[in-house]
Amino acid sequence: MANESLSKAKEAKNDEFYTQYHDIEKEVNAYLEYNPDVFRGKTVLLPCDDPEWSNFTKYFAQNFERFGLKKLISTSYAPESKRYKFGYVPTLFETEAPHFDADKSKTHGKIFVLDHDVTGDGKINVEDLEWQYLEGDGDFRSKEICHLRDQADFVITNPPFSLFREFLAWIVEADKQFLIIGNMNAITYKEVFPLIKDNKMWLGATGFVTDMVFGVPEGAIVKESDKKKAERLGYVGNYTRLGNSCWFTNIDHGRRHQPLPLMTMADNLKFSRHKELRGRDSYIHYDNYDAIEVPYTDAIPSDYEGVMGVPISFLDKYCPEQFVLLGITDRGNVWGLKTKEYSLDEAPNANDLNRRAAFVEIGGVSRRLTATYARLLIQKKICHGS
Ligand SMILES: C[S@@+](CC[C@H](N)C(=O)[O-])C[C@H]1O[C@@H](n2cnc3c(N)ncnc32)[C@H](O)[C@@H]1O
Repeated sequence: MANESLSKAKEAKNDEFYTQYHDIEKEVNAYLEYNPDVFRGKTVLLPCDDPEWSNFTKYFAQNFERFGLKKLISTSYAPESKRYKFGYVPTLFETEAPHFDADKSKTHGKIFVLDHDVTGDGKINVEDLEWQYLEGDGDFRSKEICHLRDQADFVITNPPFSLFREFLAWIVEADKQFLIIGNMNAITYKEVFPLIKDNKMWLGATGFVTDMVFGVPEGAIVKESDKKKAERLGYVGNYTRLGNSCWFTNIDHGRRHQPLPLMTMADNLKFSRHKELRGRDSYIHYDNYDAIEVPYTDAIPSDYEGVMGVPISFLDKYCPEQFVLLGITDRGNVWGLKTKEYSLDEAPNANDLNRRAAFVEIGGVSRRLTATYARLLIQKKICHGS
């Protein structure tokens, strides 16, 4: 038990999860398909990276000319500042450089810049990356990295999971275009949901149900079940799968403009593949929100014009031309959509009920209030003719 808690603590501290090349390529391709010139003439910053072997750096450097980039900058975090240290050894690439400094190697971050043909082979690619030690440790919050952020048009990375909220706020305050990896659960955070609601941020093009596998350093402690899942996906060794990982962005892509194909309410009640809906005469109406419960995204009725509570995973299919996002049942009543608060006298589970949407379950003569999972509150977009 003591060992298990220790592993959990170590696992929680680990921020070292390295993104796979093909996951980056698959995602970025969706933006290029939508707008082939999305990166043309732009500066891309890849912070919180490990440029010597990061796939983000490799991918953008390899595609520098194809994307028409103006400048690529990537920065790393000093080994001694990392939360979880794994017997750091500098790479040959670093130790063989004339400006290698054994002390700075541990205490300073590094900056890699690509903006012209250094080797003289007539191409600009990964071979032309030039590097230096940063003044500081490469913390994204430092003045030095903030200055780089301010020069950039795009900020793209898989940031430290433990600092996700802070990292997102750091990009948003500078009003940058971004593409970052996070955990789907972040959408319920009070700092995150308003951005999604106001269409200032959305999910990336790779569906969040797609398993993402990450490299981890030798000796990193990961959940055995996640390691096994990574193995089943063909990644054997220092890899782990992180469930619910997804891309967050404010760069447009085509997938978010594809409306969901849906059935009418009457057809759902007759033909839904979900047996709890089939044969009912209506959808359940919440007791504390003026909205109906839609337990599955594919059961959203196409012709219902009122408010609907849908699973969080709906976001993966959210098309802003089809639906309006009104709120979330997980965060009190910030959006003023709730119609009722329960007292403990009324229901022993009042705290749960008040946190979420609730409905009345009737079993024989008994009547019980039950809270749902967190639900997004959506409404069909009504197109008024001109
Ligand atoms: C999830 S890993 C991803 C690394 C790389 N971007 C990738 O996707 O392969 C996040 C990285 O951010 C680094 N990091 C942690 N805290 C940081 C901070 N405050 N500022 C900059 N980088 C940080 C971690 O050491 C880790 O290498």
